[in-house]
Amino acid sequence: MGRYKRFVREVSIFSDLDEGSLDRLESLLTLRSYSKDALIVSHDESGDALFIVVSGRAKAVLRGNSGREVILYLFRQGDFFGEMSLLDNQPRSASVEACEDTSLLVLRREAFLHHIERYPQTALSVLREMSRRLRYADEIIGSLALLDVYARVARMLRDMGERDGEETEEGVLIPDRPTQQDMAGMIGASRETVSRALSDLARRGYIELSGKNVLLRHAFLMGGDIARLR
Ligand code: CMP
Repeated sequence: MGRYKRFVREVSIFSDLDEGSLDRLESLLTLRSYSKDALIVSHDESGDALFIVVSGRAKAVLRGNSGREVILYLFRQGDFFGEMSLLDNQPRSASVEACEDTSLLVLRREAFLHHIERYPQTALSVLREMSRRLRYADEIIGSLALLDVYARVARMLRDMGERDGEETEEGVLIPDRPTQQDMAGMIGASRETVSRALSDLARRGYIELSGKNVLLRHAFLMGGDIARLR
C-alpha cells in the first residue's frame, strides 16, 4: 500500500473512490509540514494547490488593519482547504495559518481539476462540504446580528460539541478546545468577553473547564433557547 493511501481513503471527499482511482490520486500528492503559526495560504495571493490536513490544525482567517482577526473556519484532520481559488480562478479568499505543528497533503491545481473532471463523485463531495460550510457561515452571520455575545459563546460551544465532542455520563466532552483568543475570533468578540462568559457558564454549573477540555453538562445541552440560560 502506498504511503498516504490508508489516510486518503478516510478523507470524506475521496471516500467513494475505488482502489485504482485512489492509487492514481495518491501518486499526485506530496506531504508538507508547517510549524505552529506558519502561514500556509496568503489572502489575496493566487492559488495553485489544494491542501488536506493529515495532522494538526489550521485556521482560515481575515485580518483587519488594526490586527484584529476573524476566524472563518478551523480545519482538522481529514479536512481540505484551498479549493475556492482553484475553482473560480480568483485570489485566495482568506489566509490559512497553522494553529499547531501541522502536516498537509498537497494536490496541485491541474491535478485537482483533472481529478474532479474525471471523478464526479469527488466533485459532488466537494460541493456537499462547501454547502455545509456555507450553512455554518450563514449561522455565524445570523448570530452576529441576532444573538448577544453570551449566546454566541453558548452556541459556539454547542457546535463544537456536535462536531468534536465525545459523549460521557456527565455530558459531552470537547477535548483540546481552541484557545480563548481563537474562540473570540470565531464569534467576533474579545478574548476578555469569551473568558467572562466561560467562567460564568462554569460558575452556574452548565459547563466544566479543565485545562484544554470543556465538559458541556446535560443542563447546558438541553438548554433549548440559548437566551434562557442567562
Ligand atoms: P481559497 O480561497 O483558495 O483559500 C483560502 C481557503 O480558506 C478557501 O479557499 C477555503 O478553502 C477556506 N475558506 C475561506 N472561507 C471559508 C469559510 N467561510 N468557511 C470555510 N472555509 C473557508
